[in-house]
Amino acid sequence: MSENDLAIGVDVGGSSIKCALVDLRTGALASERYGIPTPAQDSVDRLLDALADAVARLPPVHAVGLAFPSVILDGTIRTAANINKAWIGRPLAAMAAARLGRPVAAINDADAAGLAELRYGAARGVPGTVLLLTLGTGIGSALFVDGRLLPNTELGHLEVDGREAEQRASGRARTEGRLSWDAWTDELNRVLAKMHTLLWPDLIVLCGGITEQPERFMGRIRCESRVCIGALRAEAGIVGAALATTLARPAGG
Ligand code: BGC
Repeated sequence: MSENDLAIGVDVGGSSIKCALVDLRTGALASERYGIPTPAQDSVDRLLDALADAVARLPPVHAVGLAFPSVILDGTIRTAANINKAWIGRPLAAMAAARLGRPVAAINDADAAGLAELRYGAARGVPGTVLLLTLGTGIGSALFVDGRLLPNTELGHLEVDGREAEQRASGRARTEGRLSWDAWTDELNRVLAKMHTLLWPDLIVLCGGITEQPERFMGRIRCESRVCIGALRAEAGIVGAALATTLARPAGG
């Protein structure tokens, strides 16, 4: 394996920042996975410090891909649905490159997970329209047609029968709303039905923390589109973030 086959992936989530070195030939982790709690996101600087802490445990020579829960255009944050609004307009990739002293690429977290599932996981080789949904603090989406990503789709904010999809069926909606698994799955079915009527996907891949327990809900899923669980489970964001370093020219370093 050459050094060029390796990159660091960092997945910034609502509750933790996870990172690892990734073997880009296979999508397998090439180091231990490190996780630290996400600081209460009241300060951009504190999050950058936490990123530096997380990445410091990994070898200093590799580029870093950051998966972040917002719309990202050319490395800059454009939305902040579940994070501090102070991030809007901040050039995340350039700021992180300056703080970490390495090249950094930044990408929406669901797009990252989608890239990973498409290259190495459940959607590998699937032609046509593939929709990936991450079910965590929010609902993230990644939409592909014949392997090509339409970035920043943000379908978690789609209104479904009068309420945002992510308020109905994110992982957080289940825990904070104290929904039973069955009640939550019924909400997810409504969201999936809406996605189906709008996009007619050939495959919908479900990712995110909640998919660690597929036996709780997969048997109750009803959707005209084929639905499966992501193969990379909780690692999809890390792996896709690492992959992002090969797609766009990373900032700085
Ligand atoms: C954000 C998306 C993100 C998703 C999952 C949504 O609230 O708007 O950008 O992908 O949460 O983290």
